[in-house]
Amino acid sequence: MHDVVWKKIGPLSNIPVRGARRLCFGLGGKPIAVFRTGEDKFFALVDECPHKKGPLSEGIVSGNTITCPLHNWVIGLDTGIAAEPDEGKTQTVPVKLENGELYIGLELERAPA
Ligand code: FES
Repeated sequence: MHDVVWKKIGPLSNIPVRGARRLCFGLGGKPIAVFRTGEDKFFALVDECPHKKGPLSEGIVSGNTITCPLHNWVIGLDTGIAAEPDEGKTQTVPVKLENGELYIGLELERAPA
């Protein structure tokens, strides 16, 4: 069983439009990045490109995609999937907005009853 714990990470306005922020905590030892598009949509992904773990938070947001800064793979922010002809997937992370504040959903393994 998994429980989701929502962790507040601050206001959406802290993330630059068409930009990203890497969080100071990770998911299972992997860094998390939160992205904001030009249309004020927001997404969270593990901050590792499916190619060679490039830091997606340092890439370029365009529409609902992020272009990796290392070798220009294009990753869907909503799916984490690399655009063809490249193949691979970055783990997505649940994120929600409440009263202007963003929350990241962290899955916790619940101890068996
Ligand atoms: S590490 Fe991202 S394109 Fe190579």
